[in-house]
Amino acid sequence: MNHFTSAHDVTDIDHLIERTLAFKANRYTTGTEGRGKRLGLLFLNPSMRTRISTQIAAENLGMHTIVFNIDKEGWQLELTDGAIMNGTSVEHIKDAAPVLGSYFDIIGVRTFPTLANRDADNNEELINALKKYAGVPILSLESTTVHPLQSLTDLATIAETHTMKTRPRVVLLWAPHVKPLPQCVPNSFAEWVTKWDKADLIIANPQGYDLNDKYTKGATQLHNPENALRDADFVYVKNWSAYNDYGTLPAVSGDWLLNEELMKLTNNARVMHCLPVRRNVELSDEILDSPNSLVTQQASNRVWAAQAVLSELLKQTK
Ligand code: CP
Repeated sequence: MNHFTSAHDVTDIDHLIERTLAFKANRYTTGTEGRGKRLGLLFLNPSMRTRISTQIAAENLGMHTIVFNIDKEGWQLELTDGAIMNGTSVEHIKDAAPVLGSYFDIIGVRTFPTLANRDADNNEELINALKKYAGVPILSLESTTVHPLQSLTDLATIAETHTMKTRPRVVLLWAPHVKPLPQCVPNSFAEWVTKWDKADLIIANPQGYDLNDKYTKGATQLHNPENALRDADFVYVKNWSAYNDYGTLPAVSGDWLLNEELMKLTNNARVMHCLPVRRNVELSDEILDSPNSLVTQQASNRVWAAQAVLSELLKQTK
């Protein structure tokens, strides 16, 4: 694995899940494979789980980490080739990336989509420029289209909870929100589950909120929560904004907030959410505080998934 920026970088998802759960089972064992290696974590957007869990994972492997909050402590990077830089951007990624690559053995980066320029977001300009110019493995901490560290965690959480003796029915359920959110988590979850091919994936969202079909091939898509939730083993609740009418919030008909009545349709489903969650907007207190909720277990598994990924990327370092 040269980089970890999407499911396409991974040849064996089961191996990464096994490594994730093995690190969890041996949580008090400190590794040495990262000794003398430095991880740079670049944040252009806020984070709690990704930032802290990746730092802990690196420390568990013996790595040293430096966090650079570019949005607050840096300046605007130029991503366009041939740009005449007489505007607001101060440094070209072509100049910054090789410098960062000389400081760090692995570079992690978080950058959210604009939700305004669909082509630019789809082009993953920053991640691709870092891959091209930094000369070291690049680790996505959530990009403009996907969130692979979250998805690996989600699959490991399903695998450890269900034990995978039978094929689980997994429902990705759209939820209400107060503002437009990226499609990265649902895109990525759909891409990983379908590539993994160990679960049946049903995606349920209101009309107008279909995801980019690049990510959802192989999943069943419905526009009715009741039909989707019947016999579900897992319900992954998440809001996202529209892909077709990009970044907007089309009017929604029907009630899409998961509640106890809807849960009765399921196979006593376990409920997932990547967090942060807006209580009683995206998910009700009654569900989040119930024994069916996996959200804390899911978030704590971020450490072990990051450790599994860093351990693989370290093999590519000099
Ligand atoms: N789920 C997730 O990526 O959380 P943070 O935004 O807090 O990192």
